[in-house]
Amino acid sequence: MHLLSASQISDVRQLDQLFILADKMKTDSFPVAARKLLGIVKDEGSTRTRCSFEAAMKRLGGEVVNLPLDNTSSVSKGESLERTVRVFSGYVDLILMRHSKRGVVQHCSSFSDVPVINGGDGDGEHPTQAILDVYTISREVGKVDGVKILIVGDLKCSRTVHSLLHLLKLYKDVKVYLCSPEEAVLHDEYKKGLDITEGTDFREMLSKDIDILYMTRFQKERREDGCKIPCYVLDKDLLVENCKVLHPLPSNDELPESFDNDPRARYFVQAKNGMYVRMALLGNFFKYGTFFNE
Ligand code: NCD
Repeated sequence: MHLLSASQISDVRQLDQLFILADKMKTDSFPVAARKLLGIVKDEGSTRTRCSFEAAMKRLGGEVVNLPLDNTSSVSKGESLERTVRVFSGYVDLILMRHSKRGVVQHCSSFSDVPVINGGDGDGEHPTQAILDVYTISREVGKVDGVKILIVGDLKCSRTVHSLLHLLKLYKDVKVYLCSPEEAVLHDEYKKGLDITEGTDFREMLSKDIDILYMTRFQKERREDGCKIPCYVLDKDLLVENCKVLHPLPSNDELPESFDNDPRARYFVQAKNGMYVRMALLGNFFKYGTFFNE
């Protein structure tokens, strides 16, 4: 079974079990992936997703085979991506795939002989990022039910936001504030089933009573209008006392580096959590053959 969209997760219990396992991975890991291979296919930059999956796999005793879709792969000789994925899937036990175009990972998964994890498809989805985001919220706030979250930036093109909203729907009484310029508003399809208030004035939205501020960068590479869209920059003096700041990273001007050592900056913890959550996903997969073992 592939993991292509966060919408495949339909029960909080699937996440609860995974989060308990991720907690355990911080102190105890088992060589459950010994002699197993994770294949990583990507045509786009990736630091956190690739390196945390690679580290997770190695911490569980497994190995990684990388297939960058650049001039070192047969795609550059004219082979179709479908065939390349089909061949590659014969060498490995599981594939992590990132692609710059929405839908390509989903399409290629049907040519793979082994399960495929979507590591980000264009402006589509990024389910494992959303899982680690919700894990971080649950551990930072103490719960996800009733959480008040302000999500800011390029909501139109941020795949991490699209997947995160799918997961937030599973929890009770979550309040979502969305703040983006007109050019970057979220598509309606992601709003269904959520209590949402939208705005364009970042200062005004920051004055809300929120537990989590989730920031995103403008996705320049996905837009024809380049970087002409106004950027909201975090002003720490406007941030309420105990609000935790998350960001999937990489960040640009929206997140001043001078904020990095503020106790409310939790994005480095979030990035590290990504490795433990991915260890939990891989642990379940190699032990039980499924990512979620409720
Ligand atoms: C994000 C991604 O690639 O979607 N980063 C990540 O995986 N941690 C966010 C981004 O590129 O802006």
